[in-house]
Amino acid sequence: MTHVRKSLIALIAALGWASAVPGARASAVDDLLKHYTELGAANFSAEAGEAFFDRAVIDAKTGEPRKCTLCHTTDLRRTGKHATTGKVIEPLAPSANPKRLTDARDIEKWLARNCKWTLGRECTPQEMGDVLVMIRGR
Ligand code: HEC
Repeated sequence: MTHVRKSLIALIAALGWASAVPGARASAVDDLLKHYTELGAANFSAEAGEAFFDRAVIDAKTGEPRKCTLCHTTDLRRTGKHATTGKVIEPLAPSANPKRLTDARDIEKWLARNCKWTLGRECTPQEMGDVLVMIRGR
């Protein structure tokens, strides 16, 4: 085997390893961001995501303010508590909970449900992208 061929194999192995290790988390969010971009969103911002996450919206039925932080708290590395059932919610921050943001279908399912409850409507692709970029960095 030539030296060049050997180092080529080593390089390919290293690339494969590098993409497999930080893997799932990065790609689930990246896939969703790409999808949101196709829907017209752009320039995702963790700052906008943070503001969105703690912005209160008055619920039409109860007149009470609702926001993401009601259940997830403002410190995403901490355990949250469901605002209506009182159930424990494991931290959203991937740094505290490595299972977070690993499955695009789960993320979309929960965003759909949580946006509906919190805002009384779907989140826009821009809002979802901003919030995912913010959560990913926690
Ligand atoms: C009424 C309580 C509640 C509110 C308000 C709420 N969530 Fe959640 N959220 C949950 C629950 C319950 C889960 C699923 C259980 C779990 O994953 O621990 C969840 C899961 C998620 C996940 C899934 C993460 C993953 O991949 O595991 C994301 C993202 C999320 N919420 C974002 C939001 C955003 C953004 C808002 C505001 C628009 C919000 N949540 C408001 C209760 C809430």
